[in-house]
Amino acid sequence: MTVCEYKPGLEGVPATQSGISYVDGQQGILEYRGISIEELALKSTFLETSYLLIWGGLPTKPELEEFEYEIRHHRRLKYRIRDMMKCFPERGHPMDALQACAAALGLFYSKRALDDPTYIQNAVVRLLAKIPTMVAAFQLMRKGNDPVQPCDDLDYAANFLYMLNEREPDPLAARIFDICLTLHAEHTINASTFSAMVTASTLTDPYAVVASAVGTLAGPLHGGANEEVIDMLQQIGSVENVRPFVDECITRKSRIMGFGHRVYKVKDPRATILQKLAEQLFAKFGRDEYYDIALELEQVISEKLAHKGVYPNVDFYSGLVYRKLGIPTDLFTPVFAIARVAGWLAHWKEQLEANRIFRPTQIYTGRRNQAYTPLAERP
Ligand code: CMC
Repeated sequence: MTVCEYKPGLEGVPATQSGISYVDGQQGILEYRGISIEELALKSTFLETSYLLIWGGLPTKPELEEFEYEIRHHRRLKYRIRDMMKCFPERGHPMDALQACAAALGLFYSKRALDDPTYIQNAVVRLLAKIPTMVAAFQLMRKGNDPVQPCDDLDYAANFLYMLNEREPDPLAARIFDICLTLHAEHTINASTFSAMVTASTLTDPYAVVASAVGTLAGPLHGGANEEVIDMLQQIGSVENVRPFVDECITRKSRIMGFGHRVYKVKDPRATILQKLAEQLFAKFGRDEYYDIALELEQVISEKLAHKGVYPNVDFYSGLVYRKLGIPTDLFTPVFAIARVAGWLAHWKEQLEANRIFRPTQIYTGRRNQAYTPLAERP
């Protein structure tokens, strides 16, 4: 066997072949199935984009209507899942709740008929339909309220905001949230997607695939960064404090949240779109107190870290948008998960089409041929 050079974090190592999304990190290009993210954000919807990602092409009108109809009618949670959620600690992180609920779906639909197109279709519909309901239900239940039932008259994005905030959202807010979901739906082989693919490659059920990906997305170096951005802006506190804050981070070699990316060495195209969405929301509903700090931070970092390719990533402006939509900070990552389910499912399907179990190798750095020392003789 050829021995390859070890790359920490598998940086630059191709782990799959994929036709789902394309990134050019030098030019700031992101495409889903060949269509630019800018065009999809402007012209598509999250569910149409999900169809594109998962089934490989844009749907016809009847195909889209059927897909939307199916999802609309599978949004409700089983009572047993809601009962299970009642046992969760209110102070637990919503990502942990979501991971448990996604895995629990597998208890109800564990047939694992991975060669049956109907099973695949049903799993796609159930996961896309129920994940938002789980996130909203946990939010209400941890406040001691009953979850709000999904509203069949509302589309995907509007229904989530309705279930979360217990009132119908403003149409601009709902449209902007739908665009946010589109922007977060897919991003090549990032950590959570890789996790989904590894899990998928064992031919386990899709609920386990999504649950493993949710667990991976939860970390602060991945999806969890957008929560930390808001904490950081709050901690900075004022525009005047930005420069000393950045200097201190550079001196201490600490990471500035919402900046830097393994692939993008320019401003993430999703950050550019999100910034414009944030401005639209501020124009209608009032400016966020942290926006000026964010602008100054971007400016100072472009002066001091651009030479290292450190620019705003998708997480930098998404938190400001979510705050304006009434989404609590610790739901930012679950909201990311709602969107990314589409990408995970697309990669799950693609993995099944040409499956080989992931089983990389390692370079052993430990000791060998050691004698066993009995407990009584150890120092
Ligand atoms: N703040 C300060 N310096 C940074 C940052 C940052 N956020 N990101 C990278 N750098 C510097 C880093 O110190 C290094 O400098 P040097 O060469 O002098 O050691 C150089 O830029 C290259 O960084 P790297 O560590 O090789 O980059 P990486 O590809 O391993 O890390 C990253 C990528 C996303 C983990 C990292 O940029 C980071 O920790 N960012 C903050 C967390 C964050 O915003 N995460 C969200 C990522 S995007 C959404 C997602 O994938 O979920």
